[in-house]
This record gives sequence, structure tokens and C-alpha cells, in this order.
Amino acid sequence: IDPYLDLEQEIIRLKAQKNAIILAHYYQYSEIQDIADFIGDSLELSKKAAMTSADIIVFCGVKFMAEAAYILNPDKKVLLPDIKAGCSLEESCTAEEFRKFREENPEYIAITYINCSAAVKALSDVIVTSSSAEKIINSIAEDRPILFAPDKHLGNFLIKKTNRPMKLWNGSCIVHENFSERELIKIQASNPTAQIIAHPECPAGLLRYADYVGSTSALLKYVETCNNSKEFIVLTEPGIIHQMQIKRPDSEFHEVPSINQAGCSSCSNCPHMKLNTLEKLYLCMVNESPEIKLPDEITIKARLSLERMLELSK
Ligand code: 13P
Ligand code: SF4
Repeated sequence: IDPYLDLEQEIIRLKAQKNAIILAHYYQYSEIQDIADFIGDSLELSKKAAMTSADIIVFCGVKFMAEAAYILNPDKKVLLPDIKAGCSLEESCTAEEFRKFREENPEYIAITYINCSAAVKALSDVIVTSSSAEKIINSIAEDRPILFAPDKHLGNFLIKKTNRPMKLWNGSCIVHENFSERELIKIQASNPTAQIIAHPECPAGLLRYADYVGSTSALLKYVETCNNSKEFIVLTEPGIIHQMQIKRPDSEFHEVPSINQAGCSSCSNCPHMKLNTLEKLYLCMVNESPEIKLPDEITIKARLSLERMLELSK
């Protein structure tokens, strides 16, 4: 790419020329959020994708999110700036293992977190996101045993919220699982009036510190409407702090470092979300690639479980 090219301007030009819409998750780099037509949590992004009249959906997020947009709109072109943008939760649950569980336990209803592959969605009864899960679980007949996959931490949080026992898949998010409790305690000690806000993908050991737990959009809403604090400690991917600063310019936000495999403190960026850059966004709009494509058989089955989510979360 010509280093003097104004990427933002070019992206805006390509968007109009190709009748494209740019959807972005809160964990994307700030410059991508700033150029997006819509920013949201997983549920809102799926709803937006299902409704759009654009010809091309450029999805700035991870692959399972772009796949959900495709599944809901298989006749549209769905682009993902970096096709390697995966998710540790998706990796933890292969379609083979999931199918085996379902075959061996036919009495279970499979309620599956949207952070999974299209093949696993196709094998599931209903998909949920962190903002819709509680409502959807509460709508399931009481005598039906539930398998919740793949996030065990979100699953444990939902068991407590709904009082519903569930069998949990053994998956977790590498970002939310690795926040350093020691660093959190230090930040809290230096900022004793700050509110701690957390995503339910965090383990229970971290959630016990939280003043508020919710999906990315719910955390943003909480910050926006919280009258009794101007300081927040954020236990989710720090990309969201960009929108928090826009909504609450009077407030201060603290990210919490992670502990890496070498035992060192490091940033808590999602290595998958952050694969998308402004350069890759521009190139994917020029080349109309990488494009999301899925076999019809998977798309049709996965659409049923995703549409059930859209219906039950109303
Ligand atoms: P939200 O649905 O809350 O945006 O979560 C998506 C995600 O991947 C969190 O790690
Ligand atoms: Fe997956 Fe965690 Fe990244 Fe969200 S933050 S996309 S759950 S790895």
C-alpha cells in the first residue's frame, strides 16, 4: 500500500462505491471503530447483519461473527479483513467431539454460545450471546437437561443467574481467563473508589470482585449511566475503552494486565480481534477478499439455531 494513501478516505470511498456496510466489534482497534457504520456486541451485530440492505458486509471482528453474518445472509458477500481471526472458545469445541456428545446424550438440549464454529452451530438447538443467554435459558422447559458449550466460565455465571443446572463444555477465553488477579487487586488498592466492571467470560474468581457483570454493550451502557463513579476498572478486552471514553469523557478507565505463559505481565488485547488492521480492512474492500463461504448444508442448519436465538431474545 502507498504509505501516503489516506486509508480512511479510501475506505469511505470504497464503501459508497460498493454499497458496503462496515460492522465492527468493540474489541477492534479504535481507528476501525471510528470508520465503522455500526459497532456492537455479538447479538447486536448479528441483528444488524440480518437487517442490512447493503450488498457487501465487511465484518471487523472474528471469524465466527462474520460466519454468523453470512449464515443469516447467504446471498450477500461477507468479508473479514483477516481470515485467521479465530477465537480460543471456538477452538476448544470441535464439531466431531460435539457431535459425539449429542449422539451419546440425545435427551440434552444444546444451548451454544455464539463463539463457536458454523459446524457446531449446525449441531446445536439454540445459539445464545452473553446478552441474550439468561433470557433464553429461562425459556427452556424445566425438565430438559441442558448442555452449555463451549465457555465454562460463562456457563457457571449463567447457572448462578438462572438457578438452572447445566452440563458445561470445558472451554474458556484466553483473554478473560488470564487477567491477573494480583494486578487487579493492586489497581483497586490505588483507586479505591473505582467500579469494577467485568464480562461474564471471566472466571468466577475474578467475577467476585465485580460491581457489575455484563456483555460488552451492557458494560458500555452501565458506564454511560453510572452516576456514582467516574472511575472504572475494566475486566474485558481493552478495545472497548475507546467507546467508554467517548460516552464518558469525564471518567477514567483502567485496563487490567494479563499474565502470559512466561509468568510476565502483558497487555490484554485479544490476539484474534487485533489481527484486523486498517490496512487489511482497506485491502479486503479493494480485493473483495477474504470472503466467508460455507457449505449450504451447514448454513441451512446453523441458520435454524441462530434464528431461534433472534426469536427468543426479542
Ligand atoms: P459480546 O457478545 O459481549 O460482545 O462478547 C463477544 C466476545 O467475544 C467476548 O469475548
Ligand atoms: Fe474469543 Fe476471547 Fe477473543 Fe472474544 S476475546 S474473540 S472470546 S478469544
